[in-house]
Amino acid sequence: MTILDSLLFCILIAIAAGFGSFPSSSHHRRQCFLTNENSVSCLSRGRLSHRAKLHSITSQSASVAPSNSADTEKVKRHRTYHIQKPKTTRQKVRTLFQKAQYLEKKGLWRKAAQTLSDILVLDPRDSHSYLALARLQARRFPNTTRATIAFHNGTAACPNSVHLWQAWAVFEQNAGRSERAKELFGRALEIDPYNPYVCHAYGLLLEKDNATAAVNLWQHALEKKSTAALVCSLGTAYIAQEQYTKARRLYAKHLNKVSSDRERTEVALASAWLEERYFSNINGARQLLTESLRNATTSASLVQVALARFEGRRKNERVTPFTSDGGIRKNAERQKLEQACELNIQDSSSLPADGRVFNALASIEVKARRLKSAREILHRGLERHPQDYSLLQAAGKVEERMGNYTGARTLYRASLCIQPSAPCLVAIALLELHHPTSKKTNFALVKQLFEEALLIDPRHAPAYNAYARCVFEQEDDEQQARSIFERGVRAKCSDAASLYHGFAKLELALGNIGSARKLLIEGRNAAKRQEIGKDSPHRERALFLMHTLGMLELNSNRIVAALEIFNDGVAQYGNSSQLLLGAALCEVRLGNVEKARILFEKSVMNDRRHAHAWQAWGVLEMKAGNWKAAKTLFQCGIKNMPRHGPLWQAYAVMESRLGNVTEARALFEKGINQSPNLSSLYQGWASLELREGNSEDAKVLITKALTLDKHNGAGWLIASEIEQRLGNRGLSMLLLRRGVECSPSNPSLYRALGEGLLGEGKINEAREILEKGLEMDPAHAPLYHSLAELEARVCNVQGLSKLHQRAAAMFNSNVMEPSQNSSDAWASKIKAARLRNVPTKVTALAESASRGDAIFENDADVSTSSLLDDLSSQLLVGGISNLLTMDDEEP
Ligand SMILES: *[C@@H]1O[C@H](CO)[C@@H](O)[C@H](O)[C@H]1NC(C)=O
Ligand SMILES: *[C@@H]1O[C@H](CO)[C@@H](O)[C@H](O)[C@H]1NC(C)=O
Ligand SMILES: *[C@@H]1O[C@H](CO)[C@@H](O)[C@H](O)[C@H]1NC(C)=O
Ligand SMILES: *[C@@H]1O[C@H](CO)[C@@H](O)[C@H](O)[C@H]1NC(C)=O
Ligand SMILES: *[C@@H]1O[C@H](CO)[C@@H](O)[C@H](O)[C@H]1NC(C)=O
Ligand SMILES: *[C@@H]1O[C@H](CO)[C@@H](O)[C@H](O)[C@H]1NC(C)=O
Ligand SMILES: *[C@@H]1O[C@H](CO)[C@@H](O)[C@H](O)[C@H]1NC(C)=O
Ligand SMILES: *[C@@H]1O[C@H](CO)[C@@H](O)[C@H](O)[C@H]1NC(C)=O
Ligand SMILES: *[C@@H]1O[C@H](CO)[C@@H](O)[C@H](O)[C@H]1NC(C)=O
Repeated sequence: MTILDSLLFCILIAIAAGFGSFPSSSHHRRQCFLTNENSVSCLSRGRLSHRAKLHSITSQSASVAPSNSADTEKVKRHRTYHIQKPKTTRQKVRTLFQKAQYLEKKGLWRKAAQTLSDILVLDPRDSHSYLALARLQARRFPNTTRATIAFHNGTAACPNSVHLWQAWAVFEQNAGRSERAKELFGRALEIDPYNPYVCHAYGLLLEKDNATAAVNLWQHALEKKSTAALVCSLGTAYIAQEQYTKARRLYAKHLNKVSSDRERTEVALASAWLEERYFSNINGARQLLTESLRNATTSASLVQVALARFEGRRKNERVTPFTSDGGIRKNAERQKLEQACELNIQDSSSLPADGRVFNALASIEVKARRLKSAREILHRGLERHPQDYSLLQAAGKVEERMGNYTGARTLYRASLCIQPSAPCLVAIALLELHHPTSKKTNFALVKQLFEEALLIDPRHAPAYNAYARCVFEQEDDEQQARSIFERGVRAKCSDAASLYHGFAKLELALGNIGSARKLLIEGRNAAKRQEIGKDSPHRERALFLMHTLGMLELNSNRIVAALEIFNDGVAQYGNSSQLLLGAALCEVRLGNVEKARILFEKSVMNDRRHAHAWQAWGVLEMKAGNWKAAKTLFQCGIKNMPRHGPLWQAYAVMESRLGNVTEARALFEKGINQSPNLSSLYQGWASLELREGNSEDAKVLITKALTLDKHNGAGWLIASEIEQRLGNRGLSMLLLRRGVECSPSNPSLYRALGEGLLGEGKINEAREILEKGLEMDPAHAPLYHSLAELEARVCNVQGLSKLHQRAAAMFNSNVMEPSQNSSDAWASKIKAARLRNVPTKVTALAESASRGDAIFENDADVSTSSLLDDLSSQLLVGGISNLLTMDDEEP
């Protein structure tokens, strides 16, 4: 067996263990032994007790409504068998059931189905075999009626099995047949009207159309039994209706009624969130959390992470663990987690607590790019909790980030063998995609791994993201990518923000602005719903989504809408540096310089390393003629982020505008030392030398700029200008033509080329080029001027009047009421760029959504600064370039 075969084998075991609809049936754990490098043998520890557990669940629910329950009878019957004929039917059924499970794991589905049918001949009323058969058919023939027939047969033979009716209802629900599902949940409730699992699942289904019905059902179920799921869902429904006091009473009433430690913790955390978020009762929330920590046994680490996040929010410094001197400031969350890790290590009470505190701490370190520290934390965690699969997978991710792919593989494999999980499979798929074991990437295998991940957890958003991106990039199949995202939308992913964000960015990359906007709005609403009742671990993702939506509106020239979104984001997610910058850019566009200043300041205060904010603020002051302020801002930005080339460039351009050429040259040089691959630094310098009359120097510099990035449109303009100065008119025109080819979305190139052609008297060709430019960017006013000049020159009155109408439709000269076509203009630019340079720009956009950080998810927080980098490069550029209209474009 190869390594990957053995991985798949482990996965199959996990899948065969099945999609339990009652919680406990999925609780059994597997134990695996890594026997050698190439083979893994897995033993299912819980397998023998699996049936017994299922029986205990059904009999438990039957005990609530014991009248005539076939399940109760069945348990009795089995017990009787056990006493009277211990080696006959029951033993046989059990052996056959195990065999069927084994066969299913092996992928021998036909044989497995046959074995289950054999059991049903032996015992025609074995509800678990019906269930297993139905699930098998559902996997084997996803879009046939076979599973339905099996459920049908099963419920006919065991009409009183709540478990079967419930499983069938969930199956129908997942297939999108809500009405049928409701009917089936109803049947289950006829048998056991207070069953908490059925009531909870049914309520979630009802809630979409009729919240009252759901609330009634949950209240009804809570009369007999308190479960955390029921309490938290009902509490969330109350909060959604702004009945905060009712929610408070509900939590208080049931806190000590739920049965397990874990459930009590869940209710306590929901209660603390209610106090913090809706009553602003910070002390009450803190008290609940600390008390819950004292009470908690097995779920202590869950509370520790929640408490750390809570304290982090208090200081409002989650985004910035840095001081201006670049040193590490111990923020509150990090400090809390460090303490929790220490306690966890010292605590020898050997409670089976998990290592999530280590995971949460490591995730903070990874975000701050302190990989060595993250690695060390995870190692300490693993010494304490060697069987924590999520620690192993996080450790794998850290090794992968450090370039240790072999180490990463080993760790992922170990994690899978303890507990196959979707994040781990996604990580392996991505590793296989980007750093394959063999010479060539095996796409079929990669896709299979994604599918396996989705079988284990159909609601795992990062799997859809990574999968769709892989299909889009490798096969350039946007339709398939879209259909993967649509699957995710149907599955109602637990992290809605991440799914919709990924989907929207696909549409954005394809230039479908309208679809992207629609998806982002849907995603924002879904994310808000998800964080009503609890401190969602996905809040940062939702923040990024809001940022993208705001930048989309800003780029579409819908300034007022954009500002509303940024403000809404700040209200929802606190003072995020990125959102504040977005709001500042909006205020700049609306002409409210004073408001913009305040927002810029808040933005950099929240994250001193936010280079874009320093830069945009500096440019604002520069444009306002406040040279000294601008200089200070550029210097502050450079001090915090010395490798951020555009800051150096903006500073240098300012100095050159002020006429201090020596200083400007020095700044360009320093900037290039820090950021040697940034084309625009060479371009800016070239522009300076051109102005100074040093054409030969300018030529050298611009050649370097275009070598680094041939899509740099402004660079081609300067190159052409240089040749013109040198008297090489032909070459100058050639450079413009090449520029249009390489950077087809730059309207200035069309204009320069069109005017050049006009100068040569080539009217028709000039018109064609200018029209092409307008097609690309209908909002670029100078193109209308050039075209008008052309038509005037040939006395084309009709053409002139048409042109006038077009311009009037485009520019209604009021930013408050943006023209309909402003997104169209942006869309056509994206589409044009895509035609030429698909790989880099488009994938940069798609990439961010699927960065493998879900791996650190352990209810801990997830985020990536790299995500923002990518977004910045795509979206901020639009926002900032509107500010940065420097003289480079018109040398
Ligand atoms: C079943 O679904 C798959 C994809 O989900 C599709 O390719 C196939 O054509 C469908 N088969 C039938 C019989 O509808
Ligand atoms: C359902 O029952 C019918 C009649 O007893 C039988 O022919 C069929 O094979 C069963 N189907 C399944 C999927 O169990
Ligand atoms: C919602 O459910 C309640 C209780 O089940 C019912 O009385 C009401 O008519 C339902 N409302 C709608 C709009 O279906
Ligand atoms: C902690 O335990 C005490 C005693 O059992 C109980 O009264 C209290 O409500 C619990 N608090 C929390 C937050 O779990
Ligand atoms: C790679 O990772 C493995 C597993 O954690 C570790 O044992 C090994 O030392 C690492 N190698 C390097 C070069 O860091
Ligand atoms: C954001 O910062 C302002 C001060 O600039 C503060 O008053 C406000 O409470 C902060 N908002 C949040 C949600 O922390
Ligand atoms: C140019 O800038 C440098 C450094 O800021 C300064 O020392 C020098 O006096 C300036 N020269 C002119 C001509 O402004
Ligand atoms: C610049 O690009 C070269 C070649 O692509 C690469 O080797 C180098 O690491 C890059 N330097 C920086 C600082 O990114
Ligand atoms: C503006 O939009 C309208 C309708 O959406 C369309 O008919 C028209 O051609 C567009 N104009 C430009 C210049 O793109």
